[in-house]
Amino acid sequence: MRGVILAGGSGTRLHPVTLVVSKQLLPVYDRPMIHYSLSVLMEAGVRDILVISTPDHLASYERLLGDGRSLGLRLCYAPQPEPRGLAEALLIGREFIGDNQIALILGDNVFHSPGLRTLLRRERERLKGCTLFGCPVPDPHRYGVAELDSSGRITSLVEKPERPTSNLAVVGLYLYDNEAVSRAAELKPSDRGELEITDLNRTFVESGTARLVTLDRETTWFDTGTHDSLLQASVFIREQARRGRPVGRLEDVARYMGFVRPGGHGRSVG
Ligand code: DAU
Repeated sequence: MRGVILAGGSGTRLHPVTLVVSKQLLPVYDRPMIHYSLSVLMEAGVRDILVISTPDHLASYERLLGDGRSLGLRLCYAPQPEPRGLAEALLIGREFIGDNQIALILGDNVFHSPGLRTLLRRERERLKGCTLFGCPVPDPHRYGVAELDSSGRITSLVEKPERPTSNLAVVGLYLYDNEAVSRAAELKPSDRGELEITDLNRTFVESGTARLVTLDRETTWFDTGTHDSLLQASVFIREQARRGRPVGRLEDVARYMGFVRPGGHGRSVG
């Protein structure tokens, strides 16, 4: 499986700081935001990862994360010239992805769950089509929203509905089989000129190969795209660190995932 982190966009909701700094480099408590999404891919056992950002900011990510070798990873970088939508990541990453499965994560999403590693391993093993993750939220109109029938099957997926028919937000972590790349290539830009991830996911719903896993109560999820959610995430991460349950520590994740030996040197990526 290949990982893709989307760390571009214009970060308008975090202006003025994002006029000069890439949003996903802003600190969430004591780490750059992107460390948290990178740690999720690592917990999923993904070691080949493409970081996509704007042409202006890509070099900063390379400076921050390097080639990933010290974490037992292989990190690559690619620019997205304009923010033309989340699904464009699969087209930018087409060569990097090759014929592999894909884990796409948004660089402004922060997750914490004691069971994340087990959950992701299980979902990787049973992946067929696309697997989405849902989280009940009080403000679903801010997100992609899924509606499920009584057997848990997705009946509708709508991006930022004015009148949401459920409170289940689709979080920014998506597992796909390789078919997602050709499906992304067939998408048409939405009214706002973007290749919408929700449109891509809807194609899997229509072909009966989309699955949605509702995150359990032990899981905390933040989309840190606003000043308030960024602050909330920082406070939460600080609290976890105080309780001795640090989040997003890449070196620790690399060690317990067995990507590096206790001495600290990365094993080659298989
Ligand atoms: O956080 C989960 C939500 O993320 C989902 O529920 C929505 O379905 C999904 O569309 C997305 O909504 P957002 O409003 O958060 O999307 P936003 O445009 O803020 O982009 C999410 C991240 O991706 C953000 O860090 C910027 C980056 N991005 C965005 C676009 C449009 C890119 O790198 N390139 C892009 O072209």
